[in-house]
This record gives sequence, C-alpha cells and structure tokens, in this order.
Amino acid sequence: MKHFLAIKDIDSIPDWVSQARTLKENPVALKELGAGKAICLLFFNHSLRTRLSTQKAALNLGMDVMVMNFGTEGWQLEFEDDVVMDQGKSEHIKEAAKVVSQFCDIVAIRAFASLTDKEKDEAEVVLNGFTKHASIPVVNMESSVAHPLQALADAITFAEKNKKNKPKVVLSWAPHPKALPHAVANSFVQMMQLQDANFVITHPKGYELNPEITKNVQIEYDQKKACENADFIYVKNWSSYSEYGKILSQDSAWMMTSEKLGNAKFMHCLPVRRNVVVEDAVLDGEQSLVIEQANNRTYAAQLVLKKIVDEITKNLKAPPLRRGEVDSFHRNEDGGV
Ligand code: CP
Repeated sequence: MKHFLAIKDIDSIPDWVSQARTLKENPVALKELGAGKAICLLFFNHSLRTRLSTQKAALNLGMDVMVMNFGTEGWQLEFEDDVVMDQGKSEHIKEAAKVVSQFCDIVAIRAFASLTDKEKDEAEVVLNGFTKHASIPVVNMESSVAHPLQALADAITFAEKNKKNKPKVVLSWAPHPKALPHAVANSFVQMMQLQDANFVITHPKGYELNPEITKNVQIEYDQKKACENADFIYVKNWSSYSEYGKILSQDSAWMMTSEKLGNAKFMHCLPVRRNVVVEDAVLDGEQSLVIEQANNRTYAAQLVLKKIVDEITKNLKAPPLRRGEVDSFHRNEDGGV
C-alpha cells in the first residue's frame, strides 16, 4: 500500500479490524517501529478527533509529528497547470508537495469539499495534487468525497459491539443548519457494503447520495420504518448531492430520538449538534457509542501508519536492481516484450 486514500485501499476489512484491535490491546508495543520517521499532518480545515488521534497514533509508533494548519497558515496553493500566477495564490502544488516530501516520510491531508463545484470536488484537487506531486505516501484525513480513517474506526467499533450474525444497520440523515459534505456518509456506505449486515439508508427525498456509491443499498424514505428493529443506527447530516451542496430540508422530525433509536446502538462520527441532529437523551444514554468511535480513531490511524511504515522499511531493505533486471523491469513496464 503506497497511499491510504479510500476504502478501496483496505484489502480486507475483517483482517484490518482484527489487526487494529490487536494494536489497541497494547498501543505502544511497536514504539520502536517508527523511530527516525516523521509524519506531516496538513489541515486545510478544522479538526479535533482526526488531528489528535492521528498524532497519537504516530506517537504510539515512535514517529515524529509535525502539524500545520495549512488553510490558515500556509501559502495559498495553486493546483491548476499552465497558469499565470499573478492573482492571490502564492505557491504551486508542484513545489509545495515536493518540499513537504523532503521534511517527512508520510504526509496526511485534510481538505474538505467546497460544496460549490461538484466536478472539482470529485476530482479531489488537493488530495490528488499531493499524491501526484509528493514523493512520499499520502494519507487521507478526510477529503472532498471520502473519510476512510473514520469508516475504519467505525468498522472497529461495529466489530467490538456487534453480537449478531446479520445485524440491521441504518444510516440515517438528520437535520443541520449548515451544508455539510458527503465524505463520512460515502465511506461509511462503502465500508458497510463489505460487512455481513442488513444495511438500510434513510433520508428525505432529494438527499440521495452519489448513486455510484449507494447502487446496491436499500433506501427507505420513512425514517421510523427504517429504524424499526435496528441494531445500529448511524446518524449523519449531509447536503444534497443532486442539487449539489444545497440544504433542502431542516425538518426537525428527522432528529434522532430515544423513541426512534429503540434498542439500537447509536453511532455518529462527531462533532454533533445536540438537540438538532440528536437529542440529549440519546447522546447521554448507554446505547451511545460516539466516545468509543472517537477512541478507535487512534487505532485505525495507527494501523494505517504501521502498514505504510512497514512498506517503507521493506522497500529500504530491498536490494537494488542489477543492470539486467533494470532492463527487464523497464521492458515489462512498457507492456513486456
Ligand atoms: N470525525 C472527525 O473527523 O472529527 P474531526 O472533524 O474533529 O476531526
């Protein structure tokens, strides 16, 4: 694994969850693994959990950590090629990514969707700018369309708390005063499709997620019906995908309540607005898993960093190719002769 950008970079959810749970049992068992290695965490947007858990994960592996609030403290970056940079942007991603690559061994990026330009957001301009121009592995700490570290933490929490063979899991939209991105919901849906579960999404009409992502998932527009007999209810707001970035409803009837929750466990990635998205009684109740989800962010990140450091170390140990092997390598790269 060179980069960790999306759920597709996880080759086996059960294996990764099991490995993360082993790390959780003794988080500092691999304190020597990352010695002499450094990670840069670059934030183009706010964070509490991602920032601290990724930092903690790196420290648990003995890595050095540099954190930069790039959005407020870095130079404004240009991502387009062939532009005359005579406006507000001071530095091109080509130089910035190469410079960052000299200071650390892994770079992790948080860069949310603009929610104003679907095409640009789906092109993952910032994340892909770094993967294209950096010479080191890149980790996604929530991009325009994906939050795989959150989904991996959710998979760990789900495995820890699930007692059934084929549990019913509901992803429910909830109201919110601000337009929020689709990244958490997208990655949760992709992760749940790899689980042995009866998975249902519920939201008001007009809030359908990207159909490429939800193509095999049942959608139920009646929230109460969707929540009946659920074992886990994951609540999240997102803005409209079809009317890109718009708030189409703030209907408080969609707020999660104890009544709708029933006997299900409550999940949310946090931060959450109390008594808008979910009522106090749910968040403060014993069925809420939100604090454990946040705790598991450390072990999700630690597993990802461990895998990348293992790969870096393996490549460092690999003997250099000899002359004949170099020629054969290049011939194969071109399709083989
Ligand atoms: N869930 C999550 O990513 O939290 P932060 O935005 O606080 O990092």
